Amino acid sequence: MVVPAALRAVREFVTAYGREPTHLVRSPARVNLIGEHTDYNDGLCLPVAIDRELCIALRRADDLPAAGTGIGAHLRLVSEQDPTPAVVPLPPPAADTPPPARATGWARYVEGVAVQLAATGLVPWQGALASDIPLGAGLSSSAALELAVAVACTHLAGAVPAPTELARLAQRAENVWVGAATGLLDQLACVGGIAGHVLRIDCRTLTVTPVPLPAGLAVVVIDTGSRRQLVTSAYADRRAECARAARALGVPALRDLDALPADAASRLDPVALRRARFVIAENARVDVVAGALARGDAETAGRLLLAGHRGIRDDFEVSGPELDAAVAAASGAPGCFGARMTGGGFAGCAVALVDRDRLGPFTAAFQPAYSARAGREAVLHVCSAVAGTSVTALR
Ligand code: GLA
Repeated sequence: MVVPAALRAVREFVTAYGREPTHLVRSPARVNLIGEHTDYNDGLCLPVAIDRELCIALRRADDLPAAGTGIGAHLRLVSEQDPTPAVVPLPPPAADTPPPARATGWARYVEGVAVQLAATGLVPWQGALASDIPLGAGLSSSAALELAVAVACTHLAGAVPAPTELARLAQRAENVWVGAATGLLDQLACVGGIAGHVLRIDCRTLTVTPVPLPAGLAVVVIDTGSRRQLVTSAYADRRAECARAARALGVPALRDLDALPADAASRLDPVALRRARFVIAENARVDVVAGALARGDAETAGRLLLAGHRGIRDDFEVSGPELDAAVAAASGAPGCFGARMTGGGFAGCAVALVDRDRLGPFTAAFQPAYSARAGREAVLHVCSAVAGTSVTALR
């Protein structure tokens, strides 16, 4: 029997601490339908918070430290996936603590969020973490963790920050503490999720507009099983290339262009030209897909996803063989309106829009087609759109 992450987190809490948790924080993964690598270009994106979640069962613990631990007040988070807990002393480390003295692994995200919240006041707590979000798959398990910790900390301290404020502080934790120069897409999607809706996000104004997902349309996340190292340096390269293109074209960000100027080829080097061409077209696709979904036009939405995949593969050059294989296999399967790679790129997941009534034939045709192309198996997640990070009191 599959035990949901929420229940596993509660059980784990009881096992670890010998008492009951008082609160449960639930934080979803996200998948981006279209608008990839647009967030740091001040552009538009269209993510959806999905029903694969990370949960923290927790309890305020003013009685910490336990006798004999030798440490003062702290946050302590155990995880079902790692025997070593994350422990953050209170007050947390100073913001200018050099990287060698910072936590490592998943504990960095916990510590990074605590560092960002230091000025607002933190209370000690104990927590237990369980997650159904695949790691390294591009579904933002890190944003889900950052937001879960931020909501846990602020709720127990009696604060109710606005969702955009939470998203920004989680992003700062990732940028300045973990050292990954990511945009705001993941955090805004994770905290801003609305059941049954995709989110049209304007990354310049931080406006989030819900767009209903047609009831007959399934969002199928295809975990290709591929994972890649060194993605961070390629991501930083893309950011730099986009900034270079915007500078050469005389705009604050590529978002400010509706089309490439006629003389773009003489103002940009070939690489910057390809990057700019993708970002400008991708940004425009977001509103077309949002409009199509709003009127239930899955054909148009699917066609745009396929166009987005071609652009990200050929012009932005962040696809990968397994992602291309998944998109080819999905788009040839019955019931599929369109598919594309999703997330930062190179490996991880693709996303497909599939007719709910044809999920059986879709899956039956997809799996052998993918294995034949990629030489491995994929895991399909048929997802629902869910609410963003939340906290509830337990009993
Ligand atoms: C990663 C980053 C996001 C965004 C996407 C690409 O997921 O964390 O900020 O840039 O890549 O759209």
